[in-house]
Amino acid sequence: MKSAKAAFTLGAACLAGAVFALGSVATLAQAQDTAIERGEQVYDYWCAPCHDPGPGHPGTQSLAFRYDGTEIPAVLEDRTDLTPEFVRTLVRQGMLSMAPFRKTEITDAELDALAAYLSGQ
Ligand code: HEC
Repeated sequence: MKSAKAAFTLGAACLAGAVFALGSVATLAQAQDTAIERGEQVYDYWCAPCHDPGPGHPGTQSLAFRYDGTEIPAVLEDRTDLTPEFVRTLVRQGMLSMAPFRKTEITDAELDALAAYLSGQ
């Protein structure tokens, strides 16, 4: 009787441990998803007006000109070569007609999310 109860308690403890471990993995994956979703929102608000596909978007037009004849797409969201560091530096320092963004516009946390979204990391 006693040992059966002990075994049951042990089993329950293991199960609780497993559920807890699975729970943390799910939470981690969710946190990553949330960062990427947040990054997409930041992108849509601040970057899409210049980097969306099609005419009337100076970022896309400028990059289409610069990368003409290469494999690199003009639309930032289609790029697979962007690293988080590059995105962070570009956003804080700007480039030619692209003005830098201040922390009062895009916070560091938002920039991390944006960098994760554009780099796919
Ligand atoms: C006012 C328009 C404008 C806005 C808003 C803008 N950009 Fe740009 N961006 C440009 C232009 C124009 C260039 C190209 C400069 C050049 O040709 O050298 C550029 C270049 C870049 C590049 C360099 C790509 C490369 O291959 O060198 C990155 C990365 C970039 N922008 C990211 C962003 C992000 C992220 C945002 C939003 C936070 C953003 N931009 C908002 C106009 C803009």
